[in-house]
Amino acid sequence: MNDRQVRIFDTTLRDGEQCPGASMSAREKLEVARQLAVLGVDVIEAGFPVISQGDFDAVHAIAREVRGPVIAGLARCVPKDIDAAAAAVRPAGRRGRIHVFLATSKIHREFKLGKARREILRLAVEGVRRARDAVADVEFSPEDASRTEPDFLLQVCRAVVGAGATTVNIPDTVGYATPDEFGELIGYLHDNVPQFAAGDAIVSVHCHDDLGLAVANSLAAVRRGARQVECTINGIGERAGNAALEEIVMALRTRSDSFGHLTTGIRTRHLLKTSRLVSRLSGLAVQRNKAIVGENAFAHSSGIHQDGILKKRETYEIIDPREVGWGQTELPLTKHSGRHAVQARLKHLGFHLSDRDLDAIFARFKEIGDKKKFVYDDDLAALVEGRLDAVPQTWTLDYLGFSGGSRAIPTATVRLVRRSGEGGGGAETPLQEAGTGDGPVHAALRAIDRIVGLQGELLEYGLRAVSQGTDALGEVAIKVRFDGDHVVAGRASSTDIVEASALAYLNAVNRYLYTRTAVRSSAARDRAGRRSEP
Ligand code: KIV
Ligand code: ZN
Repeated sequence: MNDRQVRIFDTTLRDGEQCPGASMSAREKLEVARQLAVLGVDVIEAGFPVISQGDFDAVHAIAREVRGPVIAGLARCVPKDIDAAAAAVRPAGRRGRIHVFLATSKIHREFKLGKARREILRLAVEGVRRARDAVADVEFSPEDASRTEPDFLLQVCRAVVGAGATTVNIPDTVGYATPDEFGELIGYLHDNVPQFAAGDAIVSVHCHDDLGLAVANSLAAVRRGARQVECTINGIGERAGNAALEEIVMALRTRSDSFGHLTTGIRTRHLLKTSRLVSRLSGLAVQRNKAIVGENAFAHSSGIHQDGILKKRETYEIIDPREVGWGQTELPLTKHSGRHAVQARLKHLGFHLSDRDLDAIFARFKEIGDKKKFVYDDDLAALVEGRLDAVPQTWTLDYLGFSGGSRAIPTATVRLVRRSGEGGGGAETPLQEAGTGDGPVHAALRAIDRIVGLQGELLEYGLRAVSQGTDALGEVAIKVRFDGDHVVAGRASSTDIVEASALAYLNAVNRYLYTRTAVRSSAARDRAGRRSEP
């Protein structure tokens, strides 16, 4: 890689996943990682391995399966975190990176860590050395760098590079910086750490969007020597989010004249597809007017603009929409389409499925094809999502009937099948109940509660048409609270919105039951472990 190229470090699966409301299973994270590799990112931060077994497994699977980008795992500056990250990224071999972080600002030192500057320096150096013993590629982040005293920050950068860090990432952790000031800080560090200036170590930036300045701050830093930008698809992330990858990449490309003709390795035609995949799998909708990937990003409603566009596109468009993946819609599939056609389209959409998953999706595709004239790409993607949910299907819907009307009491009858045994694959018991409610959806959810013996409190309910036409699939995304304080997300789609709602609720029930069992068995293991301690 030459020094004219800005490395794109994608943290959708780590900082993006910290976004309130985001929830991805390990399988879903793997699909996103595969798509990020197709997009051409340089580094995928796949997770924070020490945080949970689920995070560890996801990073490990991505390191094993995804070819191309460097795979990074995050770690605090403590041995158990660093060792967990090293083990998780090991399958990536030489492409494995450990990203160690430790707060350096005065406010974090005094109130969070209770440590003096000297102690912080010692811990940072020890952490980097330990990580270097495991992998050759080590990144260090002084957390809250933008609020750290510049002289101390410089000292930290010099020390960690001396200890073997190959990248030093400067985070604007709380989104406090402004472009001029942040650019200035990066220039100061770049020019005063000999390894940065010589190109032997890389300065990276990681900006949060609390003041809506994450992209502007990142670009200001690039102007002053940063050669890695940390960002997320659709700008998702902690609180107001991180710098949006698609905006950084397209700003560098469209205004290359203004950024010293720097380049990135991103295949921009895959941006829209990646944005949609992340939005679907994370459950976080993209606002309509979002730059580059929002529904309205290239929609011209005023007559004057439309007229101008027809005469010459560039009158009102600074980017050719095809450059970022718009306008590549393929012909919709129909019930006559064969397994091969469905497989090829799924591949085009970025999904890599086993034969077993493909069989199940093809069966659902045929069911939908009988009800809808056309099956669009978005319909197909919605079918895949349900399948990527690795949670065992303890309860499945066997039958749903409902009635209502302006004068009738809405009533629903539900029959569910309970699958017992590991992974929900054992004996099947059908159970039936009826319920009434404020509407057919409410009635169906009450009937489900009676069967499964839970009382979920519906916190959020969202319905959207997945594709076009009156026969479009309706996708329901919900959040449900079970047993007081467990909030679980559920999603499903169907041509019938009451059925989609019942399926989404069952998805949440199955997720909750799965987590409850996992938590109970881990607590039992802990108790057993404590009993056997000397
Ligand atoms: O925002 C932040 O400071 C981070 C670090 C862990 C890099 O996410
Ligand atoms: Zn962050």
